[in-house]
Amino acid sequence: MVPKNFVVDVHTHMYPPSYIKILETRSTIPIVRSFPHSSERRLILLESEVESLEKALKDPSTRPPGRPLSSQYTSLDQKIRFMDVHKIDISVISLANPWLDFLDADDAGAIGASVNEEFSNMCRQHHGRLFFFGTLPLTAPLETILASIKQLRDLKYCRGIILGTSGLGKGLDDPALLPILEAVAAAQFTIFLHPHYGLPNEVWGPRAEEYGHVLPLALGFPMETTIAVARMYLAGVFDKVPELRMLLAHSGGTLPFLAGRIESCILHDGLLSGKGKGAKSRRTIWDVLREQVYLDAVIYSEVGLKAATEASGGDRLMFGTDHPFFPPLVTGEEGLWESVSLNADAVAKTNEAGVGSAAATMGMNAIRVLNLVEQA
Ligand code: URA
Ligand code: ZN
Repeated sequence: MVPKNFVVDVHTHMYPPSYIKILETRSTIPIVRSFPHSSERRLILLESEVESLEKALKDPSTRPPGRPLSSQYTSLDQKIRFMDVHKIDISVISLANPWLDFLDADDAGAIGASVNEEFSNMCRQHHGRLFFFGTLPLTAPLETILASIKQLRDLKYCRGIILGTSGLGKGLDDPALLPILEAVAAAQFTIFLHPHYGLPNEVWGPRAEEYGHVLPLALGFPMETTIAVARMYLAGVFDKVPELRMLLAHSGGTLPFLAGRIESCILHDGLLSGKGKGAKSRRTIWDVLREQVYLDAVIYSEVGLKAATEASGGDRLMFGTDHPFFPPLVTGEEGLWESVSLNADAVAKTNEAGVGSAAATMGMNAIRVLNLVEQA
């Protein structure tokens, strides 16, 4: 019997040292490098960081781009310490963005296999406390991607796959992706859908640099997820792969809030009604949210969490931290992280409001859905 108060973190990342080595050899994002006047290495990932990267390379006196690459990103000991400090019993770790998306087709398969093996080894070192979402070499040929899913099936601690929104380069509504989604579903792997690409930089306006990472992370990331899933829904992917199960990062972006508007736009669209897509028998996006989607609880407020719970159901929400992103800026990284307590408090307040159940969201849902019972 699993104790009812088990805490499971389903949204928690790592960059294994071998992956960081690859980033250190690069000259464009994603990249790891140091800058004059500071000994720390920095991790520069996002398109919105490119302008400040270019400025810092030309003029070393400007503010360096990206974020400090602390050992929180790479060290397994730090991950376990973070879990202990925050009383997290089990973590389902995943490679952080942009995964293997930037690799050459020829390299992706071998690097992917070795990264997945590294995750598996980390889980083995902490049997019962760690599981992982594997990563697919999406730039490689189809056979290599399918072989990677096969490899992951044989890795004891693998419970699913972390996936970005680009798919094979054309998004997740691309028919060429269907054989991969089918293979993932057949392996009974949950897809953890996570953003990286955000929205085009122009959207943030000419003063974007003054606003740090706020707009791309708070708004670009969730909109990216929302758009990706809406496209999948409109393309009929959830009907074509009925066994597909997806855990959406950041409580589904804005899907719980916008599902009604998506439905209304479908209903009132002349093109779609002509193709029978507005038909009464159609599964609505609400149906998909309740049948094929799980949402993490990484939304930092009970307002968003209540919407997520009402959209997908209290049995489909799962606590997460997004560690090692969003470290405390003033208090030390070794202590309690506000990014964790904000999410835990939102779960507690949602529970107090009688929407959903804290025990389910904090751990029991993840244990049931991802089959996280300890094995010998
Ligand atoms: N959280 C992530 O997972 N990735 C980022 O790049 C930033 C925040
Ligand atoms: Zn994340």
